[in-house]
Amino acid sequence: MCGIVGAVAKRNVVPILVEGLLRLEYRGYDSAGLVVVNDKSLERVRSTGRVAELAEKSLKTNGTIGIAHTRWATHGVPSERNAHPHTSNELIAVVHNGIIENYEELRSKLTGEGYIFTSDTDTEVIAHLIHSYYIKNKDLLKSTQSALAELVGAYAIGVIAADNPDQLIGARKGSPLLLGVGEGEYFIASDMSALLQVTQKVVYLEEGDVVALALVGYKIYDAKGGAIERPVNISELNNESVELGEYQHYMQKEIHEQPQALADTLESVCNSQSLVPGIFGAEAANSFAQINRILILACGTSSHAGMVAKYWLEEIAGVPCAVEIASEYRYRVSVADPETLIVTISQSGETADTLAALNHAKSIGHKHTLAICNVPESAIIRQSKLRFLTRAGPEIGVASTKAFTTQLAALFLLTLVLAKQNGRLSAKQEQAHLHDLRHLPSAVLAVLKAEPEIAELAKHFADKHHALFLGRGLHYPIALEGALKLKEISYIHAEAYPAGELKHGPLALVDSDMPVVAVAPNDILLEKLKSNLQEVKARGGQLYVFADSETKIHSSEGVHVMQMPEHAGFLSPILHTIPLQLLAYYVALQKGTDVDKPRNLAKSVTVE
Ligand code: F6R
Repeated sequence: MCGIVGAVAKRNVVPILVEGLLRLEYRGYDSAGLVVVNDKSLERVRSTGRVAELAEKSLKTNGTIGIAHTRWATHGVPSERNAHPHTSNELIAVVHNGIIENYEELRSKLTGEGYIFTSDTDTEVIAHLIHSYYIKNKDLLKSTQSALAELVGAYAIGVIAADNPDQLIGARKGSPLLLGVGEGEYFIASDMSALLQVTQKVVYLEEGDVVALALVGYKIYDAKGGAIERPVNISELNNESVELGEYQHYMQKEIHEQPQALADTLESVCNSQSLVPGIFGAEAANSFAQINRILILACGTSSHAGMVAKYWLEEIAGVPCAVEIASEYRYRVSVADPETLIVTISQSGETADTLAALNHAKSIGHKHTLAICNVPESAIIRQSKLRFLTRAGPEIGVASTKAFTTQLAALFLLTLVLAKQNGRLSAKQEQAHLHDLRHLPSAVLAVLKAEPEIAELAKHFADKHHALFLGRGLHYPIALEGALKLKEISYIHAEAYPAGELKHGPLALVDSDMPVVAVAPNDILLEKLKSNLQEVKARGGQLYVFADSETKIHSSEGVHVMQMPEHAGFLSPILHTIPLQLLAYYVALQKGTDVDKPRNLAKSVTVE
């Protein structure tokens, strides 16, 4: 969701800005723009198309300092006039991620002072506000700090001034922004993938930080305005990890990266002989000893991972667990229980609702917080006491795939650690689970071999408008995830139900035009599920069943069965996710949708 790149260098920065925006395309956007200082004036280019179009339009643009942006519309429709950068009186230019909550109030104040607004965005107030200070003090840093003090809401910004070709200001509060350190050149960006083209050195800005970049170096100021040092890190990302390679889409690449992502996530555990709480942080043993229930907070796909974990945690570890959608929890009046462990799950670690839910939980008295997240240094990681980093690598496709299965792996580890602490895991059982975890990457690899078969099945869905997904128990959340994947990238309306609910309503929808996808592992609910499938068959529904080989469900008239290579016991939800991801991917290919950047969606949802 929205992306920022900024650069100050001795060379023309336009190619760096454009390349940076291309690398941020995955976050989702509907317009793009850049501005540079050239001969003491602002040269701005904006476009409602793809970054490639912006690149075309800015071929003749040249400057050694500049800021650029991909916009995902919040205030004001996607259009060129609403695209960033926004300027004030040809002097100040601003790019902004986040939402300024008091923008209406500021807008009328600034209008009263004679400022003319040319867009419907909240961002434009920042440009005018900075301008109103800058014309008095001619100090871009101080003007930005004064303007920020008036803002209510979340932001990451980049600012330049036409008459100051050697200074770029960046600031963050509630939205991610980092600083890239090159050789005599400096950069800002919303995430590191934008800067790998120029540097591996990164400084993670803290909440409330303001940074002033110049050719001679940079200075960081904390929320109180005092100069502060922040460590320079070497990013573990490399160019290869964000490139498409042999694949057609990032989603396909990321589906195929799952064996490696799981192996990396489980590495420390699989190499050891036993499970210890320390994998969740130094204070984990102490925290875990004090808790007796779990509340999982997350959004979208991450919340589906939480729903699977609820089954694991209650059955294996004997720990009561509730799962709540973060955007609901943050506004609900709830009862704090000091013995609850709050677990947030997030690929990006920057999802506004999940972050707000975490902070809400802390504000009402929850002391024990654990983040399961894919991005080190993200806000959710930094604001949680305990943490587990999934090692899925950068996930570029908007639809979450490898992040989900690695979250499941992390949650299974949490389950085992708590089960061991609660005396519910014998040494033999622990070794058996460790064995299964070591085998997991190759089990996933075996499922991926079914790709051509699933690509064929996908053809049956191309002309459909609706689909129903069924699962039971542990696999009901997997049905939900399968439906979410299908709807977000193929735009086919898909619903998921626990199969036992079918006859309580959704069965009315079933006819020969309604594909029904069933997740059918060989577990204790299999016979129940088989009866549910008969109910569909009897109504002429077309069944697509992902069945473990021992289930004895076979293809017949109206029943298409894909045999899974093996039943993975408690880890079965991870294996059963793979064919549903592939199904969604191939249906989207059939329909010709923009797989990696589905309409209206953003990768990292940093606004409410
Ligand atoms: C769906 C998807 C979203 C995210 C959700 C939470 O494929 O990716 O539903 O799961 O926006 O994002 P994170 O996990 O970054 O907090």
